[in-house]
Amino acid sequence: MIKNTEIITKLIIEAKEKAYKETSNEPEPQLVQKEIKWPIQCTVGPGLEGAIACESKVGYVNGTKGWLIYRGYDIFDLAAYTSYEEVSYLLLHGELPTKNELKKYKETLTKFSFLPLTLRQLMNFPVEEWNTMAALRVGTNIMRQILTYRDKDIDDIIKSKNIKVIGTDEDSIPMETMPMGEKRAIYEFKHNRDKLIKSKVVLDEALGIRSCYHLIAGLPTITAAIARLRKGSLPIEPDPDLSIAGNLLYMMKGEKPTPIEERIMDVALILHADHGMNASTFASMVVASTLSDIYFSIEAGIAALNGPLHGGANERVLYTLEEIGSPDKVEKWFKKAREEKRKIMGFGHRVYKAYDPRARILGPLAEFLCKDHKEVRTLFKTAKKLEKMVISTLGKEKKIFPNVDFYSGLVYKALGIPPEMFTPIFAVSRVSGWTARIIEYLKHNRIFRPRAIYTGEFNKKIKKRR
Ligand code: COA
Repeated sequence: MIKNTEIITKLIIEAKEKAYKETSNEPEPQLVQKEIKWPIQCTVGPGLEGAIACESKVGYVNGTKGWLIYRGYDIFDLAAYTSYEEVSYLLLHGELPTKNELKKYKETLTKFSFLPLTLRQLMNFPVEEWNTMAALRVGTNIMRQILTYRDKDIDDIIKSKNIKVIGTDEDSIPMETMPMGEKRAIYEFKHNRDKLIKSKVVLDEALGIRSCYHLIAGLPTITAAIARLRKGSLPIEPDPDLSIAGNLLYMMKGEKPTPIEERIMDVALILHADHGMNASTFASMVVASTLSDIYFSIEAGIAALNGPLHGGANERVLYTLEEIGSPDKVEKWFKKAREEKRKIMGFGHRVYKAYDPRARILGPLAEFLCKDHKEVRTLFKTAKKLEKMVISTLGKEKKIFPNVDFYSGLVYKALGIPPEMFTPIFAVSRVSGWTARIIEYLKHNRIFRPRAIYTGEFNKKIKKRR
């Protein structure tokens, strides 16, 4: 087993060199401006193509070169040299944290990653039967309970409801919905007072930075709990000594990840953290612009991310590769898919008309991981052949190339994660981009309110109906 994570850094640097070599002749960035005077002119196509919704310093996508920048840093460098914790801080605060800032930030995240009240309520639902993104959305809504308790001091709630230990006694909470017929509810909520967030603090900042930290730290715990509940196991508490990436794997699988697995998960989280004004980011910003709170805004982001044209594509890429079965069947499958005008999941992008830099990194990581996984190796070879066919046809005709979702599923599968968890993991990371852009936009908030061109009729008369 390879333990040295330097190999991952090496693969990322190689991917960067290849990307820069291949794209150096492409045109320079567009839509970059230091000072903007509103209103501005732009041509808008269907699906708001070309529309400019706001100005931002959070991140930039250069679709012709295939470059992705967070706060001025190239995604290849961030993936090679930083951690997801540093990247989420960078997106929110504009600068990479100092050693001290990072220490404090990690401490806060650790505290916020314990969600006993949220999990207790989530487990009252038949989560194991739900779509995982629906469950994540409900879990996020329950996290919002911290605001619901606004009229009371959290201490009173703890005392009055005696929730120090819940669940050792079956009668204490309704556990009929526990999956797979668990005989006893054995999840104990070892309440450490420090792990609870003071409701007042969070209330004051329902649209503020601490709610962002709460969500960045909390979504991995909920996601992992959903994964556990689906297989009939009980949730595991986070390990304060692990990173977000390490904890995500640990809490889902019940065993500590190897350094390589943790590093690869960390890179995957970095790569998915932000991506311009994509549909889920815009959805969350629209909700925030009404001055609704951050939890509601993030729920909107989760809902939008679920769609197969957006984050839901990663799960479907895996099903496509499984449907094809092996490299020798790609040609026949692709021919039929083209005849049926099927969209091939994991390809194409509204902004990238080049190879997505995130796929440039995830491809080699999938290849690295599949050496130890026979089943994934066949899928990887199938993916490589499909990529070649798509680039030589759709790539030439319509500038359609692999996007982030094409290889992420293979990486996750090799890490032992079931496909239905792929999109929630995307949300675990993207929440840092959503929150960063919401906080930025709220500084000069104006409610989003586009218009439609009315193509309907006028002056219709109502005939007598009764
Ligand atoms: N497979 C086959 N053809 C594709 C394609 C794909 N994955 N993506 C786009 N196209 C084709 C469309 O059929 C259309 O062809 P036409 O002009 O002959 O009708 C053309 O390319 C433009 O596609 P359109 O859907 O209008 O582009 P868009 O900018 O609105 O959509 C996506 C972008 C990402 C939604 C689209 O590429 C897609 O559906 N990809 C598959 C889902 C996916 O991987 N999503 C994850 C994105 S990160």
